[in-house]
Amino acid sequence: MDAAHVDNDLVNVLFTEEQILERIGELAQEIETDYDGKELLIVGILRGAVMVMADMARAFTRHVEMDWMAVSSYGSGTKSSGVVRILKDLDTDISGRHVVIVDEIIDTGLTLSWLSSNLSSRNPASVQICTLLRKPEALQMPVDVKYVGWDIPNEFVVGYGLDYRERYRNLRDIGTLAPHVYS
Ligand code: PRP
Repeated sequence: MDAAHVDNDLVNVLFTEEQILERIGELAQEIETDYDGKELLIVGILRGAVMVMADMARAFTRHVEMDWMAVSSYGSGTKSSGVVRILKDLDTDISGRHVVIVDEIIDTGLTLSWLSSNLSSRNPASVQICTLLRKPEALQMPVDVKYVGWDIPNEFVVGYGLDYRERYRNLRDIGTLAPHVYS
């Protein structure tokens, strides 16, 4: 569905499907250049990263291996608890591999900071992070992110994998959710 299908639920459209695909193409090209001549494994973090992974993998003009992890970011607590639990681990042994973690958003930074050190402890050749969106004002934990689509304001965004109570993930665009939806 696109923004017109959820019209009143959005304050604005931040990025259209076209803009998203263009930016992902640029990121894929950058990654491709950086990993020229090296095998590459991209790791998507379920569930939000499904769309970015699908579009990024197809934007590459080379082979790329894909694997997935699922984590429960904060248990039943709040975002600031920093507790991350692995719900689904990688199927791949990453020792000696070049890994790029792909996610759709970095908010507080807790999830990616934890994941990055978790994967780094498995003796990979390298681990880098790629995120489509990042909220600099929400960061609580420093995360070394090599590839960023866009920095955005600290607002509630949905679409393109980003949900509110499991809705809006299949929205083609990314938009700011209207307060009346969640208040
Ligand atoms: C989102 C996103 C990141 C995390 C970022 O996942 O995919 O993994 O939040 O937030 P942080 O920087 O504050 O840790 P979410 O927990 O919403 O799960 P989902 O991907 O299944 O929607």
